[in-house]
Amino acid sequence: RVEVAKKGDGKSIKFDEPNASRVDEADVKTEAPSRRSGSPSQRQSSKPLSNPGRKDNKSSGRNGKLANTKHQQSIPPHLLRKRDELLPKRKALPIWLKVDEIKASLKKNNVLVLTGETGSGKSTQVPQFLLNEKWCTRCIAITQPRRVAAISLARRVAEEMGSYMGSQSPMAKVGYSVRFDNATGPNTKIKFLTEGMLLQEMLRDPVMSQYSAVVVDEVHERSVNVDLILGFLKNLVAGVEQSGKKRDQPLKVVIMSATADVEALVDFFDDSGASEKTLSASNDDADMKDALEQAVTSRVSKCFVEGRQFPVEMIHLPSPTQDWVESALKLIFQIHYKEPLPGDILVFLTGQDTIEGLEKLVNDYAEGMDNEVPKRIFEPTPVRTRKVILATNIAETSVTVPGVRYVIDCGKSKTKQFRSRLGLESLLVKPISKSAAIQRKGRAGREAPGQCYRLYTESGYAEMEERTTPEILRCDLSQAILTMKARGVNDVLNFPFLDRPPRDALEKALLHLLHLQALTETGTISEIGLKIAKFPLTPTLGRVLVEAAKPERDCLLDVIDIISALSVENVFLNLVTEERKEEASEARRELYRREGDHMTLLVTVQRYAEEQSDRKAWCIRHFVSHRAMQNVMNVRKQLRQQCQQLKLLAPGEEQDMKAPSEERTKNVLACMLRGFVANTARLMPDGSYKTLNGNQLVAIHPGSVLFGKKVEAIVFNEFVFTGKAWARGVSAVQLDWVSEVIDSIL
Ligand code: CDP
Repeated sequence: RVEVAKKGDGKSIKFDEPNASRVDEADVKTEAPSRRSGSPSQRQSSKPLSNPGRKDNKSSGRNGKLANTKHQQSIPPHLLRKRDELLPKRKALPIWLKVDEIKASLKKNNVLVLTGETGSGKSTQVPQFLLNEKWCTRCIAITQPRRVAAISLARRVAEEMGSYMGSQSPMAKVGYSVRFDNATGPNTKIKFLTEGMLLQEMLRDPVMSQYSAVVVDEVHERSVNVDLILGFLKNLVAGVEQSGKKRDQPLKVVIMSATADVEALVDFFDDSGASEKTLSASNDDADMKDALEQAVTSRVSKCFVEGRQFPVEMIHLPSPTQDWVESALKLIFQIHYKEPLPGDILVFLTGQDTIEGLEKLVNDYAEGMDNEVPKRIFEPTPVRTRKVILATNIAETSVTVPGVRYVIDCGKSKTKQFRSRLGLESLLVKPISKSAAIQRKGRAGREAPGQCYRLYTESGYAEMEERTTPEILRCDLSQAILTMKARGVNDVLNFPFLDRPPRDALEKALLHLLHLQALTETGTISEIGLKIAKFPLTPTLGRVLVEAAKPERDCLLDVIDIISALSVENVFLNLVTEERKEEASEARRELYRREGDHMTLLVTVQRYAEEQSDRKAWCIRHFVSHRAMQNVMNVRKQLRQQCQQLKLLAPGEEQDMKAPSEERTKNVLACMLRGFVANTARLMPDGSYKTLNGNQLVAIHPGSVLFGKKVEAIVFNEFVFTGKAWARGVSAVQLDWVSEVIDSIL
């Protein structure tokens, strides 16, 4: 059988990152019967350690401590069984060889830089190692760049500890907090959070008084948020006052990564100016002794965990290809039929579009689809089956998928690129770095010798950059700056950055925030800015929301619906064949609005919300993704709550569910314009559109309801480059509305 699993798009978890506007979901999609015979899978679950007849409260704890607590007695047997079953697997992880070193390092120093291969056990084990340390009297935070990873790690660690998770029980010791989903309880001791959520918490509590330790995971990905967290932590560890507050106990910080440049991180945290070696050399000098003691408090430990890596055979293409989806398809079946060994296939692609395209093709080849496959990517593959996991760079280091022996690497990823001249941020498909290519290859040799097929040539590899450029050097910085300002950092140019962004990018972002009225003319954060910073939204979307709450606009509930719909990956199902596309547009006719995508999304959310009898059937009828709509409703609920907390919305305010009038439409679009005024384009005499800001040629994306339409001017949410520049999330506006907004800014 061929089983196709689909992993979310790295970019789509954008909401916790600057200019983010989507939510990601990982799931396994389809399963098709096999046409191949082969040897059975060699993966087996190991036997439980515990004696089945033994009473629960005597089962073996990791270090005896678990076994004696009061909690123990109230843990249901099935959780204990699972915990005991997992224990030997945990102990076999390479990181267990370093447990004493890790504990000792943190006893001595406040900062530890820990590097180790993906899968060596860093994310799951380190928090558990720290939990019973004397200094650990409060909660441990572990950050993740992606929500999928935060949630799945929390689940896993809860299982390993024999604990409930998050909101399942007040006893739960493990929880997670991701945008629009908080699963923590009063007893949470280990909390996985996305980087964005930790930053949000830091706004409320700059000294992070609820935590004894913060573990920053996946630092090598160098998201903007991680760079901000590192800067804030550096100040906290050094005892620099944060918004007039100080911690009452030291904060322990663990920086973890698969490939990071260890020395740069060590130097960053340890800027005492003197290394351990030079200080101990002149030990008898009294001044030096003082200096030594001081340095000890901020000195940084390093630890390297050796991974287990089996050899991976490399296969490059002899000549470059443009159509790597096609090449990947051929390879998947070639491996499936010709390779004698069992093992799953992990394919690295660029995003949802290529993943869905290839998924469809694989399924067409392997007939007999079954759509009811639950989240099976972490489960062992059944005999004579291969899982085919289609993933973005999320599977490079962030999630470990067991059972993979074959990797197919397209050599590209979608990256955020800020084009400072145009003032626009866009997602571009670009070649990955050598270090990413090596990570991808490594996924094939985790459990046994494997193979990595690169859909590029050897010289293509040689031309790749060594490392991925940190996001902070290539993205729009307005969200980062707003976060800093809200956190009381006024002098952003002198913030401790691991890599300092170029001055003009900082200045552009400051200007953008000024245009949004998030900053005052003197550069301090404004009332509007403070409100925007409290939303897990980009400053632009936050501004749209704040605008909608103004009495003269009075369309907050409508705008919340639209923003909720914009923040999930696609509300409308992507259809591949022309026939299905036509069928879908016919079925969606009642939802489409000639004003464009925003009003169409509004109507879709409202009709869905009104549907009382069978929402799933409604979605099927309208070719709408039910899962996406469930997420929309969740985001909508939370945004409404947040607006109530900020007193932008009165509790119990009713929404007008009638088809939007012209006036209401104009108000909604005026709010969109208030945030997205930089993303506007006007119709040219030749029928093309050019941006008002920069005169850049842009076409309406085929996924838009305005595709092929000619209107006076458009406002859009994002720029996508695939061959040419496309505007996505588009509405028709009048040029004088645009001028009105521009006048109000100047
Ligand atoms: O952080 P690092 O990549 O070093 O390793 P980890 O995420 O702690 O994973 C260690 C092991 O735990 C993996 O090899 C998986 O076997 C298992 N794991 C899992 O089964 N489910 C998860 N959600 C995460 C990890």
